[in-house]
Amino acid sequence: MQPFLLLMAFLLAPQAEAGKIIGGHEVEPHSRPYMAYLRVKKPGYTARCGGFLVREDFVLTAAHCQGCNITVTLGAHNISNKSESTQQVIKVKKSIPHPKYDRKTKANDIMLLQLEREAKLTNAVSVLRLPKKGVMVKPGMMCRVAGWGCYNLINTSDVLLEVQLEIQTDDLCNSYRSYNKSIEICVGNPNKIQSTFSGDSGGPLVCGNLALGIVSFGNDNGKPPRVETKISSFLSWIKETMRRFQLQRPD
Ligand SMILES: *[C@@H]1O[C@H](CO)[C@@H](O)[C@H](O)[C@H]1NC(C)=O
Ligand SMILES: *[C@@H]1O[C@H](CO)[C@@H](O)[C@H](O)[C@H]1NC(C)=O
Ligand SMILES: *[C@@H]1O[C@H](CO)[C@@H](O)[C@H](O)[C@H]1NC(C)=O
Ligand SMILES: *[C@@H]1O[C@H](CO)[C@@H](O)[C@H](O)[C@H]1NC(C)=O
Ligand SMILES: *[C@@H]1O[C@H](CO)[C@@H](O)[C@H](O)[C@H]1NC(C)=O
Repeated sequence: MQPFLLLMAFLLAPQAEAGKIIGGHEVEPHSRPYMAYLRVKKPGYTARCGGFLVREDFVLTAAHCQGCNITVTLGAHNISNKSESTQQVIKVKKSIPHPKYDRKTKANDIMLLQLEREAKLTNAVSVLRLPKKGVMVKPGMMCRVAGWGCYNLINTSDVLLEVQLEIQTDDLCNSYRSYNKSIEICVGNPNKIQSTFSGDSGGPLVCGNLALGIVSFGNDNGKPPRVETKISSFLSWIKETMRRFQLQRPD
């Protein structure tokens, strides 16, 4: 099992049907128009990740979703359904992982993808807002994560699924040796099995209407709590990087 394929959490209640997600649900098609589906070519295989549109020409995702070749699909609900005319498939021109991303500890797990062409904004494709400086997540806040990732340890989903996740205290994630509260968020109440589900790495943690986190890592067993990259700690990097690469555009 590749850890990055094992996205957010899932748990079966003792009396639940096998294979059924607890707490996750299929979203209304195109109700999360910022969601990006990433096909990531790695040496020898293809992985999937989530991401989200932050500007017409940039998608934000996790640095561990880096691959030799990434294709972005916007405006999708069922990624296997070729009849969805809302879908925009765009190649990545340049992937820019955070320069201090640490493969081992997963610190600074954030990456910008510059698209080969601008996305066309439609009812099914739009930009998700980033927080202003100083916006903080607080334990107890309910947020949500969507993805096409695993809905159990084995199977991925064709359609976009979503789950509510509760922000936890940093103490709870100190069980992860590398957890760093200044750049990471601890999510998913381990006692509330109905609030867990599997989403994609790189997808946004959405609180209110703002992207506050990026799905990063957790235990291989898929159980909460999970660790997300804290977007508010990377706002200047995001801004500066988008400005720098825009200036390099020939036109
Ligand atoms: C995964 O999907 C396959 C094929 O659709 C199915 O046969 C299998 O039962 C699923 N596994 C689980 C654990 O749901
Ligand atoms: C990247 O992947 C896409 C879709 O799988 C393919 O069409 C394209 O040729 C690939 N590009 C490179 C440089 O491998
Ligand atoms: C997604 O689309 C494919 C191809 O049209 C179809 O076979 C599959 O059943 C759809 N999945 C869901 C969950 O609707
Ligand atoms: C595929 O997408 C089209 C257009 O949105 C829709 O009408 C159709 O029901 C979908 N098919 C499946 C199997 O989900
Ligand atoms: C946590 O992250 C901050 C910001 O990048 C860094 O300055 C600090 O050294 C990190 N702490 C540990 C224990 O790695």
